[in-house]
Amino acid sequence: MRVDINAVQRVYRRYAPAYDFYFGAMFQPGREEIIARMDCRPGDRILEVGVGTGLSLSIYPRNVELTGIDLSREMLARARVRRRRERLNQVVALRLMDAESMQFTDDSFDKVVAMYVMSVTPHPARLVDEMRRVCKPDGELLIVNHFQHANPVVRGMERLVAPLSRLMGFHPDFSLENFIQETHLDVVERIPVNMLGYWTLLQCRNNKIPTTGISSMQAIA
Ligand SMILES: C[S@@+](CC[C@H](N)C(=O)[O-])C[C@H]1O[C@@H](n2cnc3c(N)ncnc32)[C@H](O)[C@@H]1O
Repeated sequence: MRVDINAVQRVYRRYAPAYDFYFGAMFQPGREEIIARMDCRPGDRILEVGVGTGLSLSIYPRNVELTGIDLSREMLARARVRRRRERLNQVVALRLMDAESMQFTDDSFDKVVAMYVMSVTPHPARLVDEMRRVCKPDGELLIVNHFQHANPVVRGMERLVAPLSRLMGFHPDFSLENFIQETHLDVVERIPVNMLGYWTLLQCRNNKIPTTGISSMQAIA
């Protein structure tokens, strides 16, 4: 069953107050690894899609220009509090926006990052197309996510809970091979991260080949 925007917003309205407690420390190694691999340069313009409560914000160097977007007002409100409280001046904007249909012009960013968003968003291939569009042609796309496990027993369990995806707000049976095939991502490195390497970090060159033809800029707020 597909998740949709309303389901994502509903789920994260519910998760927002306790999100940092449950998903803060557990996912932090992946957040740190992805930012370390970005090789940030002074003045780099970076976009983080699905920035959530902003758990990654303090990891970025102070000399970049970081923009974060998210679909959930409640998650974003927490990110804004964090930015103020920790005086994170490298965060130039936190905006409510659908990452599958962004309001940014083409080639706006040097690097575009999605942490734990691909199995949550309704149409992952559209999201990747949009990441490509707003990223400069020689830029980088970075993704960290859980993908379907290689072990058949674990994979069977993931399939069992898949029908609950609307309720949970993500697809537990999300296949890495299908994802790469559908999105035509030019993956330079695949790195296992977090507990038992159960999540995968994908470091990709921006290869600007649209896969879905969706590129209109459509505001949701
Ligand atoms: C699992 S949380 C990850 C949050 C954050 N990246 C982190 O590392 O904790 C997924 C986030 O992606 C957001 N999201 C899902 N689909 C989105 C979309 N199409 N556009 C913008 N944000 C989206 C959700 O609202 C939620 O805040």
